[in-house]
Amino acid sequence: MHNETLHTRDYLTEFGTNDYLSAYTRFKTIPWFMEHIKGLVRVFVNNSSHLGNERALEFGGGPTLVSSFVLAQYVQSITFSEYVPNNLKAVNDWINQVDGAFDWTNVFNFIIEQYHQQTGITLSLSECEQRLRTGLQRGGVLRIADVNEQSGCSVLDNPDNYNQFDIILSSFCLEDACLTKETYEKTVERLCMLLKPGGFLVLAHGRNQTFYYVNDKRFFAQYMNEQSARETLERMNLINIQTSAVDRTPNEYSDSDGYFIACGYKKK
Ligand SMILES: C[S@@+](CC[C@H](N)C(=O)[O-])C[C@H]1O[C@@H](n2cnc3c(N)ncnc32)[C@H](O)[C@@H]1O
Repeated sequence: MHNETLHTRDYLTEFGTNDYLSAYTRFKTIPWFMEHIKGLVRVFVNNSSHLGNERALEFGGGPTLVSSFVLAQYVQSITFSEYVPNNLKAVNDWINQVDGAFDWTNVFNFIIEQYHQQTGITLSLSECEQRLRTGLQRGGVLRIADVNEQSGCSVLDNPDNYNQFDIILSSFCLEDACLTKETYEKTVERLCMLLKPGGFLVLAHGRNQTFYYVNDKRFFAQYMNEQSARETLERMNLINIQTSAVDRTPNEYSDSDGYFIACGYKKK
């Protein structure tokens, strides 16, 4: 394994899209990951009566459709945004049903099972996939700029996006993307600008983490936890802030001791 810690522009050449996706083929062997999905579904089930149903933004979605699949059950339109072009290609390949596109069936079925366990409602895989495809086609798949640059981002700095989204979700992105606590706070503030009044912000992060590996490449992570994220959301004047966490044992692939979700609402 390499010891050099990669970040920002390194993602453009060093982030292994297929290596990252391969973890999802064996997600049932990763207990924390299944617990995270359960927790994510729980956040949406618990908050469902407060959510607007028009537009969602997934920020820094990687090549991953887990979060957007959950969002698709709540909104008509999902704007999927990501920094690495190869990751965007993986998402577009799934939308366009290109041969060789990643097969999300097992993960989506697991999410559907969680819905069933938590609500008693049985969703149909094909209908949910259709909702996701249609939602992504309405909202678009967009490339974002390096968040550390703090300007010139097609999503964050587009005034047409201000106050437009009912839900914004970003999972396991900002702690990897933002090199400083100040940039993290600034990026959360920029995301809040895009929320409608009453809109819902959901952030998932590695806890107490400083690095993670994708295959043999080591990537930077910013140290944070439920308390520090809650303080950030309080400084953004969000209300009804909630946090939940899943523990994991640190290992040579990541020193995080858990994963957490922090969420809250923009004041009306
Ligand atoms: C661990 S991946 C998470 C992907 C996905 N959200 C998920 O839950 O699997 C980290 C993400 O952060 C994005 N990222 C890393 N550095 C960034 C930066 N400087 N600006 C914007 N995004 C960045 C990467 O492109 C990547 O998609």
